[in-house]
Amino acid sequence: MQDRPAWAPDDVDITRPSVARVYDYYLGGSHNFAADREFAREVIAVMPDMPRVAQENRAFLRRAVRHLCDAGVDQFLDLGSGIPTAGSVHEVAPDATVVYVDHDPVAVTHSRTLLAGQDRVVVAAADLRDPDAVLADPIVSATLDTSRPVAVLLVSVLHFVADDRDPAGFIARYLRDLPAGSHLVLSHATAESRPGAADAQALYNRSRSPQGMRMRSRAEVEALFDGVRLLEPGVVRIPHWRPESPDDVPADVDSYPGFAGVGRV
Ligand SMILES: C[S@@+](CC[C@H](N)C(=O)[O-])C[C@H]1O[C@@H](n2cnc3c(N)ncnc32)[C@H](O)[C@@H]1O
Repeated sequence: MQDRPAWAPDDVDITRPSVARVYDYYLGGSHNFAADREFAREVIAVMPDMPRVAQENRAFLRRAVRHLCDAGVDQFLDLGSGIPTAGSVHEVAPDATVVYVDHDPVAVTHSRTLLAGQDRVVVAAADLRDPDAVLADPIVSATLDTSRPVAVLLVSVLHFVADDRDPAGFIARYLRDLPAGSHLVLSHATAESRPGAADAQALYNRSRSPQGMRMRSRAEVEALFDGVRLLEPGVVRIPHWRPESPDDVPADVDSYPGFAGVGRV
């Protein structure tokens, strides 16, 4: 049995992989356990570029946040924010108010440790599939000023939400009372035109996996933007969303296993 490190909350089951800690491993982080690494290696065996895919996803997050800062947005609600790694929202937008939300105890505890003393960057422990509970959470409601634009981020997380939880419905609830100029930022795993991705999805759907996974097609991801105006270039393979340089777009981008987009309320 592996020793429990000091940073691991007492109630965390270190024998079972978690999405947040597996993703931390893909990114080269240190907040993961043997069970997470074992699961991650199984995924990497069917999708060898998984660590690069995770890095590309984080790079999209940074490009989108920078774009929104330039557009004058200074409040971010990052749903499924994960274990903070270099380039989290508050680092890219140092003058902004940032609310991180995650249901993973390691992600929440580690985020709180890192962010202690910063009153405009807070962390709430909540299930993002319940928008009424998230928005009513005292940390969230005391921090966000919903009379001004807010960017709602759902980056690399909605593929952990099954259809019967109605992701389009709860996205609409998050955006319902936000003023014009608010935004939706979303990235999502796909198996469309991507060999190996369905095998990775099957691993996540095994029993004792971190969480079930539901990859979606481009049309299904576009449907999640119903009711908002998609910014150029629309819903595209992640590296194609406003790359900083054409050299940043990999040659195999058309089989890239994720879509991204940003929409404006
Ligand atoms: C793949 S990570 C993505 C982290 C970050 N958004 C990024 O793109 O770098 C997904 C995160 O969503 C969290 N998550 C998954 N389902 C959730 C739920 N129902 N409520 C809150 N957080 C959730 C996981 O714990 C994990 O930290």
